[in-house]
Amino acid sequence: MAICTSISTLQQTLSQKRASGAQIGFVPTMGALHDGHGSLVTQALAQNDCVVVSIFVNPTQFNNAQDLEKYPRPFEQDVAFLNAIDPEIVIFAPEAADLYGGAVQAKSYRFGAIESAMEGKHRPGHFDGVGTVLNLLFRAVSPTRAYFGEKDFQQLQIVRKLVALERLPVEIIGCPIHRAENGLAMSSRNRRLTPQQLEAAPFIFKILKKTQDEFDSKSIPALVREAEAAFAANPMLDLEYFEIAATDNLQTAYRKHPSNTYRAFVAAFAGEVRLIDNMGLN
Ligand code: PAJ
Repeated sequence: MAICTSISTLQQTLSQKRASGAQIGFVPTMGALHDGHGSLVTQALAQNDCVVVSIFVNPTQFNNAQDLEKYPRPFEQDVAFLNAIDPEIVIFAPEAADLYGGAVQAKSYRFGAIESAMEGKHRPGHFDGVGTVLNLLFRAVSPTRAYFGEKDFQQLQIVRKLVALERLPVEIIGCPIHRAENGLAMSSRNRRLTPQQLEAAPFIFKILKKTQDEFDSKSIPALVREAEAAFAANPMLDLEYFEIAATDNLQTAYRKHPSNTYRAFVAAFAGEVRLIDNMGLN
């Protein structure tokens, strides 16, 4: 399995494949890999000749120093996880100084209205950090296609905007949310949950599903009120936001327009661990 820890070794590894016209699929991650990441990798393998998975815990997208410090980094396990999927996968695990080529700091982007909604509002600077690192990663890998999960639906929209702003020649592919059998969206952060929190966390899915089931029969404000009340009555989860937003611009919706589609978005804390999830409603 090729493990490249610098841009130059990555480019050496890819140059031959590129010269022979290989299409390169790219799955950017922060490691602590799980089956959600695995589903992106499997789709990339099916659609490209060669797949690169980056493992890089990006400091500039964390607005909370403790969250960055506590982010799991089980590198050996991640290598074994990818090796079991396909030993031909190329792993790119750069050092911050090499990837950033100097100061490890975020550029300031103008992503428009989507950047100030939800995650943008609650995690100031987060999307500038995501945009900065992906711009650097895309330039290092030069992929044909790159794969992102709808688990981070707002991030997926930001990436599409980034590619347009930076004029990057890459096709962005959105992939469905991978869930555990109990509905909990898979996440690297789930590893930090206690057994009790792990048992409580599928409540997030339950409320999203209820909102989806009742979307046609209730108004948006009523659905939001009921979801907020359900979280308030749950002692294990501390709700940061529950929002219903239009799918295209992610602006908070207050009433339904027949030609629009909507999604519900949640961020909630289980203890110190921040979990996010979302679901299409119509
Ligand atoms: P990370 O949280 O490791 O996620 C990497 C990719 O896996 C993202 O596109 C994310 O949406 C996707 N993913 C995570 N859990 C998923 C699930 N349950 N189902 C489907 N896809 C899932 O997102 C990041 O890293 C970083 O912000 C990154 C894009 C790598 C930039 O640093």
